[in-house]
Amino acid sequence: MAGEASYHVSGMAFPQTRLRRLRATPVLRDLVRETRLDASDLVMPLFIEAGLSGREPIRSMPGVDRLSISEAVAEAGEIAALGIPAVLLFGIPSHKDEEGSGAWDDEGIVQLATRAIREAHPGLLVIADLCLCEYTSHGHCGLLRADGAVDNDASLELLARTAVSQARAGADVVAPSDMMDGRVGVLRAALDEEGFGDTPIMAYSAKFASAFFGPFREAADSTPAFGDRRAYQMDPANGDEALREVRLDVEEGADVVIVKPALPYLDVIRRVKDETRMPVAAYNVSGEYAMVKAAAAAGYLDERAIVLETLTSIRRAGADIVITYHAKDAAQWLQT
Ligand code: PBG
Ligand code: ZN
Repeated sequence: MAGEASYHVSGMAFPQTRLRRLRATPVLRDLVRETRLDASDLVMPLFIEAGLSGREPIRSMPGVDRLSISEAVAEAGEIAALGIPAVLLFGIPSHKDEEGSGAWDDEGIVQLATRAIREAHPGLLVIADLCLCEYTSHGHCGLLRADGAVDNDASLELLARTAVSQARAGADVVAPSDMMDGRVGVLRAALDEEGFGDTPIMAYSAKFASAFFGPFREAADSTPAFGDRRAYQMDPANGDEALREVRLDVEEGADVVIVKPALPYLDVIRRVKDETRMPVAAYNVSGEYAMVKAAAAAGYLDERAIVLETLTSIRRAGADIVITYHAKDAAQWLQT
């Protein structure tokens, strides 16, 4: 018999046959699958714009719109119905200033949207993105000093106010994406002091200075007016540094750590998971989404297959949670 023969004749043939046997039996193939992708792993980001009526398409992110509050509530309903457990809210305010005061306004866009979504869909987890860049006239993630550099320590106070305001509005989780040093500890203390000791912090801990954020900056209207974010975001060449950033955030009290972007940093996701054993979220960012949409629209790639393979690979790398603009499509495809 061929199987027997290969077992005896060649030490290599038997293991190969065994692998093929597992793959050839569909039910067994499913049973032994190492990584599962489910709608319940996903988080859908939403862009909510003050003063907007209806929806406004985002040119570089086909299929993603800026939403009014009522559209966001409707969208959140569809997301929840698809089994996606959480949304991540970004706000586009009607007014920007030097400090980004719209970020901690109790009647600000994210605060209003949080209240509306929580009320309409109490089961859906609302994560508030916490940063100043959508609210500052200069587009940087913190307060600027006279010389144009970001003032780390002065920014912390403003971020703390924002976290408390978001929690007060009902945000279940706050997600600081600014990358200022020491922010997680400051936010934790501020939340605890204001009675929000149970509000978790999902920290963008390993956030790289990435060209993949391009479409997002159009979506959120947060392109820096001058300079770039390399003083506070990480060098894409550095994996060890990512671990140091993550460790600091965990020591300061981060409950979940985020690696961002996802695909060019799968190795970082794996290392963060292995070395911290913390809950890890990966952010499959705007540029990653835009590439897939453009290639699919040109007929170069099969969008459904690419998206499911991509999201599975991010999970396989070690992410417990995948934040992705593909969330709704993926959840639909996973049902069929
Ligand atoms: C900034 C922020 C960025 C993203 C979310 N919050 C990037 C940046 O402009 O530096 C990117 C998300 C995406 O590209 O999808 N606080
Ligand atoms: Zn920012």
